[in-house]
Amino acid sequence: MSTSNKVEGTAEARAGANFALIKYWGKADARLNVPAVGSISITLDALWSETKVVLDPKLTADEFSLNGRTRSEEQGKVSACLDLLRARAKVKTRARITSRNNFPTGAGLASSASGFAALVTAGAGALGLDLSPRESSIAARQGSGSAARSVFGGFVEMHAGTAPDGLDSFAEPLLDAAAWPLEVVIAVTATGEKEVGSSSGMTRSAKSSPYYPAWVENQPADLATARAAIEARDFAALADIAEHNCLKMHAAAIAAQPPLVYWNGATVECLHAVRKLRAAGVPVFFTIDAGPQVKAVCTPGARSQVEAALRSVPGVLELLTSRLGPGAELF
Ligand code: DP6
Repeated sequence: MSTSNKVEGTAEARAGANFALIKYWGKADARLNVPAVGSISITLDALWSETKVVLDPKLTADEFSLNGRTRSEEQGKVSACLDLLRARAKVKTRARITSRNNFPTGAGLASSASGFAALVTAGAGALGLDLSPRESSIAARQGSGSAARSVFGGFVEMHAGTAPDGLDSFAEPLLDAAAWPLEVVIAVTATGEKEVGSSSGMTRSAKSSPYYPAWVENQPADLATARAAIEARDFAALADIAEHNCLKMHAAAIAAQPPLVYWNGATVECLHAVRKLRAAGVPVFFTIDAGPQVKAVCTPGARSQVEAALRSVPGVLELLTSRLGPGAELF
């Protein structure tokens, strides 16, 4: 089949952000963006990216805008991800890509996860490709590792994989959102974009943190513990392993040179507030990504207590709440 540059097509998709309970931190292959460790996450329904891909034979280069603003800094990654799909469709046509997030971008709220999952879904739709969810996950991973998980809803596991071509490095659903309807209260403690992005934070940790090898070595055991807790809907067990894994990731990052301290004072106060609530019998635990926001995962019945506790922490600017949600979808 010859390669065409005359194809026109349009598609729009929505994907939810996801938060990892067992974290991805470190790469085995930077070129293919294969993670060094597996991870387990929850996909959210209230925080999402919507992305529209319009193939236009008149364009000589892709055009990418996010929240109404041209983003040249992300253009290369977006084009590279679409190139994977174009190669598969044997099409060269460039595209106009417009994306929007309904939540703060780049502040540790998983905007690249929902963004690339929506991009791959819309891109495949515009190109007329019928990708399996696994193929979408593999393509999304090459845009951003965590995006491989936002292809699916509910509880999701990402396999690091070992194949040199990265074809066994994809996410799979573990449990539907409705099967264990947990909720998340997000304490926003800063609104700017983070200083050191995840990719460079991971590279720095791998290069210079003495704790990085231990982090990687321990991950299979944490994944097994979390998987079993999710299967058994054992909140206490999931709470313990998720907080432990999150703090280990941050310990490895803090021990890098120069150090990666993603937290501010309010982050630490929120962490204590959540632990205090749990000690008092409220089913809630925290997780924190490469930014200062605290995500408190709780049962639906505990949500109002969690909101009240986090709202009263000095330095908390805003609370966002979400249920678990579906995977990426065309609309
Ligand atoms: C701390 O998926 O943003 O949120 O693959 O380099 O784009 P790249 O990294 P990214 O890293 C996410 C890191 C994390 C933990 C997680 O989501 O598992």
